[in-house]
Amino acid sequence: MSTPSGTGSVGPAKVRIRHLHDAKDRGRPFSMLTAYDQFSAQAFEAAGIDVLLVGDSVGTTVLGHSSTTATTHQDMLTFTAAVARSVHRPLLVADLAFGTYETGPTDALRHGVELIRAGAEMVKLEGGRAIAPQVKALVDAGIPVMGHLGFTPQSVNALSGHRVQGRDAAGADQLAEDALAIQEAGASAVVLELVPAQVAARITEVLEIPTIGIGAGPACDGQVLVWQDMAGLSDFHGKFVKAFADLRRDLTHAAEQYRVEVAERSYPGPEHSFD
Ligand code: KIV
Repeated sequence: MSTPSGTGSVGPAKVRIRHLHDAKDRGRPFSMLTAYDQFSAQAFEAAGIDVLLVGDSVGTTVLGHSSTTATTHQDMLTFTAAVARSVHRPLLVADLAFGTYETGPTDALRHGVELIRAGAEMVKLEGGRAIAPQVKALVDAGIPVMGHLGFTPQSVNALSGHRVQGRDAAGADQLAEDALAIQEAGASAVVLELVPAQVAARITEVLEIPTIGIGAGPACDGQVLVWQDMAGLSDFHGKFVKAFADLRRDLTHAAEQYRVEVAERSYPGPEHSFD
């Protein structure tokens, strides 16, 4: 299927869940990036990215918080709607914010419905067996669900910081059990964050639904990165991150050049001025 990028894209004019499942069946990895605003989302759509995630990482990448636990449901609605208005082709996933689903299926459903009304096509929530009833309630109401296991940022305090999960046999077994519980509850895909590559490979093998890795090695069915990390705009240089550009350098350079030209009155020139 021809896409703007030509290769590595799973879907046609509109990416749907079944395209991710087809991609897994065919062993063709797909790409997901976070997106929070119009122009970045449009750039990722033009690049053929299959899935856009309006992550609660908007709190730490856009809003200046130090943890995603500070991201609110209203933040998620605002940024989800912005991305939904801006792109068409990628599958659009939005995070359920911390505190909007842990209390039970009724709250999960209420907040999930609002995210779908804002333009999301799937919602993501963190956790394993403990939130399986929430997953089921959402799926029963017609809301597709993406799980999130391994390092789950909303539990950063309980997990004592950003740490690789499932390193020992018991932890790896627990992750696999949680992944199966989420699948059983009806989830359509699951993110695996900061998980040893061989553990992610094992989970990917046993699950029918696609896994999407972030710091989980190459065997996952798809990969996701926070876009500001992927493009070198953030100052996060975790081991699992590859910066495919140096936007921080380029943006700083552009702003510096602008400042200099304003100071020396070379900008605006006649070509930027009205008669
Ligand atoms: O919010 C987010 O950016 C995420 C990714 C790390 C998967 O959940």
